[in-house]
Amino acid sequence: MITRIFDVRDISEDYAQLNEKLAEAAEILAAGGTVAFPTETVYGLGANALDETAVAKIYEAKGRPSDNPLIVHIASEDQLDGIVREVPEKARAVMAACWPGPVSIIMKKDPRVPDRVTAGLDTVAIRMPENPEARVLLSRCGCPVAAPSANLSGKPSPTRPEHVLHDLEGRVDGIVLGRNCDVGIESTVLDLSTEPPVILRPGIVTAEDLNALIGEVRVASNSAKNESVPKAPGMKYTHYAPEAPLILYRGTGDTLWQMIRDRAESELAAGRRVGLMLSSEHLNAALETFGNSPDCRIHDLGSIREPKQAAQLIFDILRSLDREGVDLILGETFEEAGVGFSVMNRLTKAATEVIEIGD
Ligand code: TXA
Ligand code: MG
Repeated sequence: MITRIFDVRDISEDYAQLNEKLAEAAEILAAGGTVAFPTETVYGLGANALDETAVAKIYEAKGRPSDNPLIVHIASEDQLDGIVREVPEKARAVMAACWPGPVSIIMKKDPRVPDRVTAGLDTVAIRMPENPEARVLLSRCGCPVAAPSANLSGKPSPTRPEHVLHDLEGRVDGIVLGRNCDVGIESTVLDLSTEPPVILRPGIVTAEDLNALIGEVRVASNSAKNESVPKAPGMKYTHYAPEAPLILYRGTGDTLWQMIRDRAESELAAGRRVGLMLSSEHLNAALETFGNSPDCRIHDLGSIREPKQAAQLIFDILRSLDREGVDLILGETFEEAGVGFSVMNRLTKAATEVIEIGD
């Protein structure tokens, strides 16, 4: 399959030019094709959400299990009519505060949404993305667009245009090359079809943020991937897995760095290539110890106090470690609060082992 490339990297702030450059990409969507495009969270792979045949192409291109439902992307709230049966009061509050932006809201679905989009559930997840490329494309194509993250199933979500080219060129009809994603982790998925509302996937908009908006909000347990009938079907699949095993060290202080350092030293001595994902706080120590070792690749997750930086970086780092061909990855962890909770959700899904360190 020949993939049409729409490179808008140098005009991604200019609505008039985007409108012109993305006209053909919008036509491809309207005609039942697949187009990958940037959003502020991660790149998505879109198709007309009301066209079952088009939606089937998404699952095929990604190699995605068909019991994992898709998020429907819209450009304006008018489009909700015909996709959801009703908009609950709390959804209105979340939409007013967070849309356009990185929150997907689950509501009861209208029968017009094909079962293939929702994997047979009677609910549908909806999101209105914020970045100009997505807004132009979604308003121009004139249809709601079902879009999962634009990675091959099981691989880290794409946060840069080159990630999408790597995974999907030749497998989809079009790719919009735009900005690097600001948020870097996928949207918060909030289920408002039940009471009290439940966060099925944590994101940059946190439980605390939503609690302040709509009162009690529960958070689905991270262990959902072990349940046989998970509420968010996506939770049960292996996610984001880098090629090399990822071992996370959970704890604080100097012991944490010493344990990572000792493990890295013994692995390197045994002839293995080691990747390190560390907070900025431990970067200098790591560079002093391993900076001269060609078999040790060091990556900076940003400050341990600023998990938003890690959110923006993690998927790119996991993909870089794949390219670098390391045999083993050792990673630091974040306190599971606020955005740190969401970052840890992604890191633990990518990990093969979590080592707890007592102080
Ligand atoms: O930021 C994002 O949300 C990105 C961009 C492209 O918008 N999209 C994304 O889609 O991450 P995807 O398909 O990779 O993840 C969608 C998640 C899955 O865990 C899926 O199971 C869950 O949302 N989901 C979708 N519809 C659902 C529904 N009706 N009920 C429960 N979970 C649902
Ligand atoms: Mg995904």
